Amino acid sequence: MTERMVAIIGGSGLYDIDGLEQVEWVTVKTPWGDPSDAILTGTLQGLKLAFLPRHGRGHVLDPSSVPYRANIDALKRLGATDVISMSACGSFREEMAPGDFVIVDQFIDRTFARDKSFFGPGCVAHVSLAHPTCARLAATVGDAAEQAGATVHRGGTYLAMEGPQFSTLAESNMYRDHWGAHVIGMTNMPEAKLAREAELCYASVAMVTDYDCWHPDHDAVAVSDIIRTLTGNAEKARRAIAHLPALLDPGRPPCPHGCDRALDTAMITAPDK
Ligand code: ADE
Repeated sequence: MTERMVAIIGGSGLYDIDGLEQVEWVTVKTPWGDPSDAILTGTLQGLKLAFLPRHGRGHVLDPSSVPYRANIDALKRLGATDVISMSACGSFREEMAPGDFVIVDQFIDRTFARDKSFFGPGCVAHVSLAHPTCARLAATVGDAAEQAGATVHRGGTYLAMEGPQFSTLAESNMYRDHWGAHVIGMTNMPEAKLAREAELCYASVAMVTDYDCWHPDHDAVAVSDIIRTLTGNAEKARRAIAHLPALLDPGRPPCPHGCDRALDTAMITAPDK
């Protein structure tokens, strides 16, 4: 058993968490530069927690400028074993309505202007991403969100786009009708890829704020609509986090899906090089 530390990466609308004890904002240096902000650490009913505001306090970083490698590396250095990503998203499905939470289990990565790996020349590794989220952590996070009163959809494909502009109608229709995406956002990639390379369990709660621009009965998404829904979503996210300690053991048995051993079968560079 390893000691568990759950890291929460908070998206738009979620910049801190309540009820933590032994609270400290910690500054972590990494070889990949500075993380988005200092990291809030503490314990919540005995569970070690770390919280990182993805866009920085005050929302100063756009999705392309988020230092994803530094963020994941800093959380790993602090001792995180599990990462829960919380972020706003648009919905491609009528039934995934604004205010609902989608526990994402697949991604389509359309981002192109971000550093996506800790590996490269000199040390080459190819981790498996067939199942990019941790099913065990995702199930627990889904339970916590349900206990918090959220309408939860378990499973869904998240289209990660570069932004910062929203999609065109042609793109929105293509992602929805032909690519089978359920939700769209700008931040979960390369986060999920890097968490896997760092051998961290990763689950993503995509909190619906809008219907993007495909829906004939809704106006095309605007930031003002997102902000309106965000406040309610962030409140539910806070309540979900408060349910985590009762659902998660502070000791962590090995991941049944192998997230914590992802590199065992991934390294291709000879060990003596
Ligand atoms: N975040 C929230 N809503 C979004 C949308 N419609 N597209 C991309 N990112 C989003």
